[in-house]
Amino acid sequence: MSPEPRHQALLSVRGLGVFRPGPGGEVAALRDIDLDLQPQECLGIVGESGCGKTQLLHALMGLQSGNVRLAGSVRFRGEELLGASAQRLALVRGRRLALVFQDALSALNPYLRIATQMTEGARAQLGLSRRAAWQRAATLLESLQIDAPARRLRQYPHELSGGMRQRVLIAMALMCEPDVLLLDEPTTALDVTVQAQVLAVLRELRARSGVAMIFVTHDLGVLAAIADRVAVMYAGRIVEQAAAAHLYATPRHPYTAGLLHSMPRLDTPLDTRLSTIPGQPPRSGATSTGCAFAPRCPLAHERCTQLPVLRCADNQFPANGTVACHYDGPAQGLREIWP
Ligand SMILES: Nc1ncnc2c1ncn2[C@@H]1O[C@H](COP(=O)(O)OP(=O)(O)OP(=O)(O)O)[C@@H](O)[C@H]1O
Ligand code: SF4
Ligand SMILES: [Mg+2]
Repeated sequence: MSPEPRHQALLSVRGLGVFRPGPGGEVAALRDIDLDLQPQECLGIVGESGCGKTQLLHALMGLQSGNVRLAGSVRFRGEELLGASAQRLALVRGRRLALVFQDALSALNPYLRIATQMTEGARAQLGLSRRAAWQRAATLLESLQIDAPARRLRQYPHELSGGMRQRVLIAMALMCEPDVLLLDEPTTALDVTVQAQVLAVLRELRARSGVAMIFVTHDLGVLAAIADRVAVMYAGRIVEQAAAAHLYATPRHPYTAGLLHSMPRLDTPLDTRLSTIPGQPPRSGATSTGCAFAPRCPLAHERCTQLPVLRCADNQFPANGTVACHYDGPAQGLREIWP
């Protein structure tokens, strides 16, 4: 596999918006999303429940229902996917971009054996024989550290543990050797031991095959183990984006600082109550002309009634990421704002 030049993003998203009809007019589930995914990179996307993470992955895959309007641009290797024909999308989907759906149990059909579910797509997309597809499925399951793959292939989803079902979903997405794997909360429903196993398997897979990943979760702790870069979402927008190490060390958005502050740490005394970000995210469809985080933000001030746009988080070092916030004081100041 030959690495591609850094300037050519594998996936390039500009101004992506997802709008669905509501009782009082169109409701925006996502707005003004800009993202780039480089070859072999793992981009983490984090945010609270309902902020639009799943909507974003579905929009990248072109999996919207008919009454949903998409705006902006999603380019894969330079080719525009928004508005592409159904035939073209069907070719890209599964083969070049593959999605591991949220919720491993309901994403699998309970009435079909694992082998049928794993091989159907690859047989249709790649024209593989039943035997070749079965062999590929068994090899993938083995590479994801599932024991007795031949037996597992003959089983039904309910006969597998949660961790195995999650790995089956990952293997299924890899059947056509995609360039980009979109993972929607692949570790959320798993206990911490199995979670660590799935993360190790994904890291190993990436090192071996070079597949690029977008890893969605609500847990910054999980992303620390796998992401090169992290985008933080709030109320359907990206509010901060930076290299993972930089974002963890120097968050530039009060919401990111709050998420980090509410993460348990190894050196936290056992009797310490974990802190939370007070308040709730805005309900779906709520319209606000200013910063959507303002009702929960300890730094909210007059200017925050105007929408903050993404800007360089650090004027001297633009590579240090982008942030959508009117606060322009020292980054260290954000450490103290959460009790
Ligand atoms: N089919 C739909 N029709 C109307 N609204 C929807 C639909 N699907 C999602 N939404 C709304 O869009 C918003 C974003 O939902 P989404 O599922 O993308 O959130 P999420 O960040 O993935 O949350 P979670 O962490 O719980 O999976 C939510 O407010 C949700 O209620
Ligand atoms: S723009 Fe204002 S309200 Fe929004 S996060 Fe920044 S400081 Fe807080
Ligand atoms: Mg989701």
